[in-house]
Amino acid sequence: MSNRRYKIAVLPGDGIGVEIMGVTLEVLEKLGQLCDIDFLFSEALIGGAAIDQTGHPLPPETLELCRYSDAVLLGAVGGYQWDELPSHLRPEQALLGLRSGLNLFANLRPATVFPELIHASSLKPEVITGVDLLVVRELTGGIYFGQPKGIFTSETGEQRGVNTMAYLASEIDRIGRVAFAAAQQRRKKLCSVDKANVLEVSQLWRQRMNALAPEYPDVTLTHLYVDNAAMQLIRWPQQFDVIVTGNLFGDILSDEAAMLTGSIGMLPSASLGATAPGVFEPVHGSAPDIAGQDVANPLAQILSAAMMLRYGLSEPQAAARLEYAVAEVLRQGYRTGDIYTEGMQRLGCKAMGAQVAAALA
Ligand code: IPM
Ligand code: MG
Repeated sequence: MSNRRYKIAVLPGDGIGVEIMGVTLEVLEKLGQLCDIDFLFSEALIGGAAIDQTGHPLPPETLELCRYSDAVLLGAVGGYQWDELPSHLRPEQALLGLRSGLNLFANLRPATVFPELIHASSLKPEVITGVDLLVVRELTGGIYFGQPKGIFTSETGEQRGVNTMAYLASEIDRIGRVAFAAAQQRRKKLCSVDKANVLEVSQLWRQRMNALAPEYPDVTLTHLYVDNAAMQLIRWPQQFDVIVTGNLFGDILSDEAAMLTGSIGMLPSASLGATAPGVFEPVHGSAPDIAGQDVANPLAQILSAAMMLRYGLSEPQAAARLEYAVAEVLRQGYRTGDIYTEGMQRLGCKAMGAQVAAALA
């Protein structure tokens, strides 16, 4: 038995989450054998699957299991059959509950263009070649959680929908520090994205980022308004190293950044708090339209497991080995349908996982 043993909470969720998780656990087993790591997987319900069995998208047992694990590996949640439920019972609530329940304030979403997939992107090759950026999104504050929120009746008797975008200085500082530290490990450029020309909450955001900068003299801090940032991301994405932004802007910009790489099916993410466990999940959703057909791309889930090894379990060598294996199967020409281009070899979900497992050795 290995002295490196980790308790992993496994939450496959809905749709393709189930398939890509199955494949990923097999790849992790193989990696564990090769790197002498024991993974103790415990599975729990989340999302629509949890609604069907327990009536709640994030059952208390699931949150408890996560709290007592070293890391949480999450698939995806959601599907058409749960779309009509009241909002507090929808599968998406499970993600928000997990984020706030585990205090996961920092969401890391890297967007890296694999040279082999340049032609899968909808942008010109010269625009995306070499893109390697990291979106650091604040995840437990801002307009997603601010009070007041709700649909109220106004004085005139009309309905009024309300959400509140608010940040405490301390919330800005802690996400700022994560982003500055990430930039120090990379190309030392940090771009903070806000809407300070209009929003007070953004003016405070910008002040706090500027106030942190002297603590990281090796990092160059710049600022962009969010509308301009959205434009710059498709105009000249190579200019970016680390982007730090609030919850809503980060939600939007990380989808845009994802598409630079050609397929959202390739992108992992990590959600981290001040202490373990973190949650590691693909950026893509549950894709109910292709669920159960063994055609889903498991690579974002596998790369999320690599992020788990690196950021959640401090196993950088195992992480690098897994990332190398993914790059290797792409070099060998294996593709799932979402990243397929002519002349490549098209594989289903399971077969892709088997190739990654083989490439580990
Ligand atoms: C994401 C998703 C979620 C979000 C939804 C499903 C709640 O879009 O993780 O980016 O808005 O954060
Ligand atoms: Mg999103």
